[in-house]
Amino acid sequence: MAKPKRRYVCAACGSLSTRWQGQCADCGEWNTLTEEAPQTVFSVKHDLSTGGRPIQFEPLDAKGEMPQRRSTGLPEFDRALGGGLVPGSAILMGGDPGIGKSTLLLQASAKIALGGGTVVYISGEEAAGQVRLRAERLGLGKAPIQLASATSVRDILTTLGAMEPPALLVIDSIQTMHSDQIEGAPGTVSQVRASAFELIRYAKDSGAALVLVGHVTKDGSIAGPRVLEHMVDVVMAFEGERSHQYRILRSLKNRFGPVDEIGVFAMAGQGLQEISNPSMLFLSGREDPVPGSAVFPAMEGTRPVLVEIQALIVRLQSGATPRRAVVGWDSGRMAMLLAVLEARCGLNFSSAEVYLNVSGGYRLADPAADLAVAAALVSALADRPLPKATTWFGEVSLAGEVRPVAHGAIRLREAAKLGFDSAHAPPESGPEVPGMRRHDIAMLNRLVDRIVGDT
Ligand code: TYD
Ligand code: MG
Repeated sequence: MAKPKRRYVCAACGSLSTRWQGQCADCGEWNTLTEEAPQTVFSVKHDLSTGGRPIQFEPLDAKGEMPQRRSTGLPEFDRALGGGLVPGSAILMGGDPGIGKSTLLLQASAKIALGGGTVVYISGEEAAGQVRLRAERLGLGKAPIQLASATSVRDILTTLGAMEPPALLVIDSIQTMHSDQIEGAPGTVSQVRASAFELIRYAKDSGAALVLVGHVTKDGSIAGPRVLEHMVDVVMAFEGERSHQYRILRSLKNRFGPVDEIGVFAMAGQGLQEISNPSMLFLSGREDPVPGSAVFPAMEGTRPVLVEIQALIVRLQSGATPRRAVVGWDSGRMAMLLAVLEARCGLNFSSAEVYLNVSGGYRLADPAADLAVAAALVSALADRPLPKATTWFGEVSLAGEVRPVAHGAIRLREAAKLGFDSAHAPPESGPEVPGMRRHDIAMLNRLVDRIVGDT
């Protein structure tokens, strides 16, 4: 019989290796490889004598009871969650330090507690007194939150085991938690994973909704193992520029709902204010049109948001390689659009530096932005402002066609509501909207005529 092979497993990322190494080749952690018992290979026989127990199959339509979601008391938070907290679910909330994660969760905790739900808020970063002070400053000092400063997962679970499960359990943050089931300092990959595992199991067993706060590293991923993202049901990111007032709550993964809805907040002296109508937020509010600026009616989930796209073109005298920089949009997509404008419309960007910016720190993912970006680029190249009070949307193909996009009617209505009186869009972009003049653009060179021509 063949000798069973030795295998070593990394305690941090779980990858397998056939020989021992000081450093895991996959995740780069040191001294995490340990030998695993050789696998016993046995063939599965189709009878019950092998010791396996039969599992029960269930029809898909069995019982069919969806657990009732619980509102966080903050409609924008509920919207990003896909309709509120699902009992027994685990949510990972990531974001830069100081962006407002603790503030958001404290506000939601207070709302739930004031509404009669039990909330346990465990802070591993701040003393209970600090959290209380902040709650008082936010005018939430009276909310009956069960507040504690703790870092030992065993202590936390022992305490929770002796009480009725709360509606919401907040752990701020998972990087400060420590499980004595495993060696290592808090914040290490194996500690984060073990602590999260125990807390998530508690949530599943008890029906409490669990929110784990997670720090974000410089490259934007949640510190600790990627496996954390696999372990939870919902991964949320709280984004924004610290110097800007606006914050966007986005779900990146959601086992119970869509991932394209966002929650919009503004950080003010009284904590986070909800912005239920964000469509104007990302417009610069400039009166006189300038070259290189185009307004795009974007869709965020089911909500339209008007954003300003700004382009700047600098002609180079020397033969140096021109720079291309994009903030808030895909740089590959911009390269493609420049190529289409050159190949199909005869424009020349080859000796020009091209800068593209989406205003307000907003990040665009909507493919309908192509036409607005093209309009901003052509306007900047021609040094001519675009017509006033107009918007642009449509997807551009490599052949230079402008294709219809989803939700044309909603985009047009929102633009009309905000005082725009014309729209450049592909034909068949939805029914007529009162007060909105439509300019059909089926080919990209038609756009160039509109801007560079004698309009
Ligand atoms: P915080 O919730 O502590 O951030 P995180 O938990 O993500 O690290 O938010 C801290 C920042 O928010 C801090 O820089 C101050 C600011 N802030 C306000 O502007 N207004 C407020 O009412 C509060 C509570 C905080
Ligand atoms: Mg915090």
